[in-house]
Amino acid sequence: MAMKLIHENNLLFRLDAGESSYAFQVTPDGRLQHLYWGGRVDAMEELARLNGKNSYPSEPSLDPQDNQCWREHQLWEFAPEDIGVYAPATATVRNAWGNVVTDPRYVSHRLLPGKPALAGLPAAYAEPQEAQTLEVTLEDPNTHVQFVLRYTAFQNLSAIARSMVVVNRGDAPAELLRADSLTADFWHESLDVCFFDGFWGKERCFHREALQGGRKTLESTRGLSGHAMNPSVILCDRTTTEETGRAYGALLVYSGNFAIEVDQSPLYRTRLSLGLHPQRFQWLLQPGESFQTPEALQAFSPNGLGTLSRTFHDLLRNHLIPRRWRDAPRPILINNWEAMHFDFSKEKLVNLARTAKENGVDLLVLDDGWFGKRNSDRCALGDWTANEKKISGTMGELADAIRAQGVKFGLWFEPEMVSQDSDLFRKHPDWAIQVPNHSLSYHRFQYVLDFSRPEVVDYVYEKVAAIIQEAKLDYMKWDANREMTEVGSTALPPERQGELPHRYVLGLYDLYQRLSHSFPNLLIEGCSAGGGRFDAGILAFSPQFWTSDNSDAFNRLFIQYGTSFFYPCSAMGAHVAVNWFPQRYSPIETRAAVAFAGTFGYELDLNQMPPEELNQVKAQCQFYRQHHHLVQNGDYYRLTSPYEDNVVAWMNLAKDKSEFLLTVVFVRWDAAFYGRNLRLAGLNPNDTYSDGTQSWPASLLLQAGYPVSSPKNGDMISLQIHFQKA
Ligand code: DGJ
Repeated sequence: MAMKLIHENNLLFRLDAGESSYAFQVTPDGRLQHLYWGGRVDAMEELARLNGKNSYPSEPSLDPQDNQCWREHQLWEFAPEDIGVYAPATATVRNAWGNVVTDPRYVSHRLLPGKPALAGLPAAYAEPQEAQTLEVTLEDPNTHVQFVLRYTAFQNLSAIARSMVVVNRGDAPAELLRADSLTADFWHESLDVCFFDGFWGKERCFHREALQGGRKTLESTRGLSGHAMNPSVILCDRTTTEETGRAYGALLVYSGNFAIEVDQSPLYRTRLSLGLHPQRFQWLLQPGESFQTPEALQAFSPNGLGTLSRTFHDLLRNHLIPRRWRDAPRPILINNWEAMHFDFSKEKLVNLARTAKENGVDLLVLDDGWFGKRNSDRCALGDWTANEKKISGTMGELADAIRAQGVKFGLWFEPEMVSQDSDLFRKHPDWAIQVPNHSLSYHRFQYVLDFSRPEVVDYVYEKVAAIIQEAKLDYMKWDANREMTEVGSTALPPERQGELPHRYVLGLYDLYQRLSHSFPNLLIEGCSAGGGRFDAGILAFSPQFWTSDNSDAFNRLFIQYGTSFFYPCSAMGAHVAVNWFPQRYSPIETRAAVAFAGTFGYELDLNQMPPEELNQVKAQCQFYRQHHHLVQNGDYYRLTSPYEDNVVAWMNLAKDKSEFLLTVVFVRWDAAFYGRNLRLAGLNPNDTYSDGTQSWPASLLLQAGYPVSSPKNGDMISLQIHFQKA
């Protein structure tokens, strides 16, 4: 029987995605009105009654002809501009008369099997039997600008992917000032908002606060999504917990400037908007031209934040990251950066590769400093030719020497940047993003290349591809260490300068796409001064991302906890490093236990490790290899929060619930701490599990808990236990 996820009746649409439903309708005047988003409902026409009842207060004195005053309190599916809605519009077009009234009406709709790709932008994918897509076309009667809203409902996930195409069907140019990926309206008086802000070394801090009216904006105008705010948001009931209550999540599949706005009117109409940041966006649409917005992914959970996270994990793992890496185990890697910084030689690297192999590591990554005359961070970005003196031969020869030790080989690049002191900048100073009559701001002594120019992307592609080819690279670490300032392009006319931030991101994705296409087996790990640009746009090309430069196990508990709300463990680069801060010591077992919750590796010099620690590396690699499938493909359960608990714990549970890994970190030693019963999650109560020594009924593990106590005295002591279903 053909799958039917999308229902239509008299221009009322209901999308059933997994356990959720989402509904909207065309009003008699042709506008799009939102009706519902939440748990699964079977009703159709009755959905329309919800809006009729709630959006127009039934004041007998109100004349429906006097229509403006209630528009801002209605629920909109496409929120019009400048007709009295005031809260963020879905799109804003400046027309030939210079005003911004944007009030499109329904033209047509159609259903498509599966999910079409987005032109020039990364997006989720689905087979025809996994999803269904609805396209609704609206047209503004004055400008003849059309808005094609696209919704894909996934069959087995309570998730919908959304985007919009704007097409200028008129005969005059139109200036697009705002084009959102998602507008979602709620009637709700007591919602919390959760968001993830941060800083270098302190990425994705979890924040939850009550919405109290007015507007809250989560944003980036930095040119990249960045450390300061992740392009993701959760709205939930005030009573929602990890395991109970309603939660609505939304995530932008985009790596540049973005705005997430949550706007609440005094009558409790709450609007969630996600999209390109309107403050740094403008796009000139000539007649016949079209514009594709980035995609937004939205998901609903009726049982708490944990289920919401697992829905996003499945969505990203099964429908977004490159198919090539969906099921393939990721290599255990060692990166030389923290061990050597710029001070390495062929001999040191080969020695490291040998010890790595002896202990079970799969891949050696040579980080920054192998190209041009780069011996510090002050020069040579853009000069992507090997420093043959430093590596005692060609890059191909170094790669062979590393591989001869039995490990794979990867290299670091920062493709989007140029140092002032570089041959590239001396030759093409106009290739840096810049504005006339203003000096260029430095950050890390580098500038951002103007990726809106195809010739710049071509140049970088040729250079990077040549090295990948010569060294037959297995892996590439793609770093991006600065944000944009003085945002201008020497190649764009004044009326198109506002297009630069988005054109830059299109150029970035083009480079990613070309390299991924030319080298389908290359594993590209994202990085951005640690975990700055950790977003779904990059994950569509890079299945894993360096989560943070901060590898202190205590700080990582927080960073990985915050990251886990949207992103799966399999996307989080996590390595064992030396103790980062002299003020805090975490035993190597705990550093490894924390790193096991991501794509595992090492960020230290194995040849300098105390022998008693080096002895543990082999065992850690074996342990990870044995259990990595739970981390990569299993369900992740946050059992406690580092923000609230001294015992931080999580589970990686097999999809079929046949086994799981329990990790517990006892953060601060406490003289009064004798142990506790930790309630587990996700199990079938009728099952029984063995922890290797004893059997435990799952009902007891779920209700009374599993007894855990710190195996040693001290801070940051950990425990990892593998459970097998009896
Ligand atoms: C920043 C990254 O986060 C580090 O891991 C390292 O690659 C340096 N850049 C190299 O410059």
